Amino acid sequence: MAADDMGHAEDAWWRSAVVYQVYPRSFADSDGDGVGDLDGLTGRLDHLSGLGVDVLWLSPVSPSPQADNGYDISDYQDIDPVFGDLAAFDRLLGAVHERGMKLVMDLVVNHTSDEHPWFQESRDPASPKRDWYWWRPPREGREPNNWGSFFSGSAWELDAASDAYYLHLFSPKQPDLNWENPWMRRAVYAMMRWWLDRGVDGFRMDVVNLISKDPALPDAEVHEQGPYGDGSPYFVCGPRIHDYLQEMHREVIARYPGRLLTVGEMPGVTVEQARLFTDPARAELDMVFQFEHVGLDHGRGKFDPRPLRLTDLKASLGRWQSGLADVGWNSLYWNNHDQPRVVSRFGDDGPIHRTRSATMLATVLHLHRGTPYVYQGEELGMANAPLRTIEDFRDIESLNHYTDALRAGAEPEDVLPGLRAMGRDNARTPMQWDASPHAGFTTGTPWIPVNPDHTEVNAEAALADPDSVYHHYRRLIALRHQEPAVVHGDFTMLLPDDERIYAFTRRYGRTVLLVVGNFTGDTASAVMPAGWDGAELVMGNGPSVPPRPGRLVLAPWEARVHRRND
Ligand code: NOJ
Repeated sequence: MAADDMGHAEDAWWRSAVVYQVYPRSFADSDGDGVGDLDGLTGRLDHLSGLGVDVLWLSPVSPSPQADNGYDISDYQDIDPVFGDLAAFDRLLGAVHERGMKLVMDLVVNHTSDEHPWFQESRDPASPKRDWYWWRPPREGREPNNWGSFFSGSAWELDAASDAYYLHLFSPKQPDLNWENPWMRRAVYAMMRWWLDRGVDGFRMDVVNLISKDPALPDAEVHEQGPYGDGSPYFVCGPRIHDYLQEMHREVIARYPGRLLTVGEMPGVTVEQARLFTDPARAELDMVFQFEHVGLDHGRGKFDPRPLRLTDLKASLGRWQSGLADVGWNSLYWNNHDQPRVVSRFGDDGPIHRTRSATMLATVLHLHRGTPYVYQGEELGMANAPLRTIEDFRDIESLNHYTDALRAGAEPEDVLPGLRAMGRDNARTPMQWDASPHAGFTTGTPWIPVNPDHTEVNAEAALADPDSVYHHYRRLIALRHQEPAVVHGDFTMLLPDDERIYAFTRRYGRTVLLVVGNFTGDTASAVMPAGWDGAELVMGNGPSVPPRPGRLVLAPWEARVHRRND
């Protein structure tokens, strides 16, 4: 990286930014077809600027058969008609920039759709693009190895046309690109530059730490019963991952110095690897999405949830804070389109505690060191969907898991509780704009039902109520913009063994912030950390219990931010 670029890294603009993720299918529908679209989003941008966010991350909008809601792209350089067209995209981009915000696209290049022309050509063994995907002959009449797919079943699909299998870590509609092929990589870089030259401000890179596979494609160990093994040792942060990301940086990112934000989605990434990916001197990525803290409530797999232990959460997030303290940078998130709603998961979405627990969770997250991400509706305290039978589900991951489990002998009621708690459809119910029948999302029939709680929980009501979750997020974002200690301060975890209170300090120069949050629905107390009695209250989420000297006493789900100047 050029010396002046490295100089920028310390005060790179994205360190003080807050990102808002839009899942366009579920945000705002302008034409009444029941699916959100770009014009709908453009019409709602004041909601984002009112909140004060700096960046809009847009989940995929390119042409797609929608097998995985757009994460299966069949043409990288156009817009799916369900969302609009390139003119609508340019209108959106212009309106985002007019409001002083930036727009980051989703880059899905671990795989394409099987309907992408690259894959269609690749199906012919004589094609120069044959090697753009992972084709292998059958092994003893079966799949080339025993890897399972993230969406159930084998990671290989037989293509009868050439009697060969292709690799798909996700659905058979999402064949994996072969990054070993330099021509394929060149085509991806050209496509990225095309979007950046159009004016977009960076990329969120879908499962980008899976792009380098061990070319030997060895069999995986099989830990559990069942025919398929976990191949992740051979493709999570694989052998050439850093080469590819450095090449991408050279060929694309470095050509737009100081302007872009890049964040790599990285399931299975460790802190040590994240330091390498986000060390500015290595010129790879600005930050990564890690998955450790959203796996702490998984049992035997994600659909076997167990209660979160607060001490585990503190140990995990604390390790990421210290691991990326001197080198690299964290991204901070509770929610996205793949996770259940945080107020239902780690808070309490009932009528009494919803606002308090949602604002406590927000406060704790946003006061960590790193760039916070807000997922649409999180700022309203939107909760999990009331999913009952399998007919209520839309997501390919949940549907495949259900089919597999029933085929293996399970009863629906064995499987549904896990899907209800953890399924991705929880995040994908329409954005709740107002109390009208479809929550102001569409005039048609929504592709997935609106959560009936929209009569109470909606943007219109939240804007009118100064104590709403929305206004709390707005104040947190403003605090980040005004208080340098939120952006730059050191992080020190306090009370690591306390199962009820999350507490830490942030220090920058002479300013110290103390952040405390009660993760329970009962009053909780601990010894007040020394030097904080009577300190200024910068922010809180509601009436506190009267202070007691030497004691930190928090009302149910209470959060507070104190400040002191040493
Ligand atoms: C991660 C995305 O966030 C998820 O929604 C998608 O299903 C997979 N990658 C495959 O693209």
